[in-house]
Amino acid sequence: MGDREMLRQAKLSLGLLDFEDTVRTCRSYRRFKEDEPLGRGFLLALVDIARKVASAANRQPLRYAIVDEPSACAELLGGLRWAGALADWDGPAEGERPSAYLVIFCEGDPGKFTWCDCGIAAQTIALASVEAGAGLCMLASFDPRVVCDVVGEGAKGLTPLLVLALGVPAETCVLETAEPGANLNYWRGPDGVHHVPKRTLAEVLIKGKE
Ligand SMILES: Cc1cc2nc3c(=O)[nH]c(=O)nc-3n(C[C@H](O)[C@H](O)[C@H](O)COP(=O)(O)O)c2cc1C
Repeated sequence: MGDREMLRQAKLSLGLLDFEDTVRTCRSYRRFKEDEPLGRGFLLALVDIARKVASAANRQPLRYAIVDEPSACAELLGGLRWAGALADWDGPAEGERPSAYLVIFCEGDPGKFTWCDCGIAAQTIALASVEAGAGLCMLASFDPRVVCDVVGEGAKGLTPLLVLALGVPAETCVLETAEPGANLNYWRGPDGVHHVPKRTLAEVLIKGKE
């Protein structure tokens, strides 16, 4: 049996196809249905799920802020940098902006494993969002002063790590296969579809001892 067939059968027999579909749908969305709010309960649920994930030495250094009030969302938007690879796009226009944000902070300065904790939490929130028909974009390029200003008192003594821009997606994002050496930049076609090249299994899997 070839590797390709073995892979297909394994996913099928282990019931992984649905989960793989969720991961495939779990893209970085940058345009949303701005007039469809997610609701406070949903945002609280995302944080409640995130607090249960793995954490190095179980230190749990992460803290979360919910930003969902329209004027606060507008202020936060001004401090974000969107899609560096889409040179002629300035970020979401009115009507397609995120309806809410979660900001992930850590206490004090980030420690050795803080970014790892942050990634685990962010991806868990992303998967939960997709499961509920929403979507997000993780943003690490932002002005920390703007972020801390918007969050206010609660941000004192904390370092902002990642901004999660959330909403009901209003764009289609598709994965593509990137052959070794190919350009890995994401791009948007004339039809508005966002394309994301991913390395092949053969390229990411290194050869170990036989
Ligand atoms: C740690 C991290 C930081 C990111 N920061 C930004 C950002 O500042 N602005 C942005 O538009 N996208 C940002 N992204 C989204 C990436 O551009 C995106 O993950 C990448 O293009 C692949 O697309 P995909 O998430 O759909 O697979 C970030 C993603 C990660 C994981």
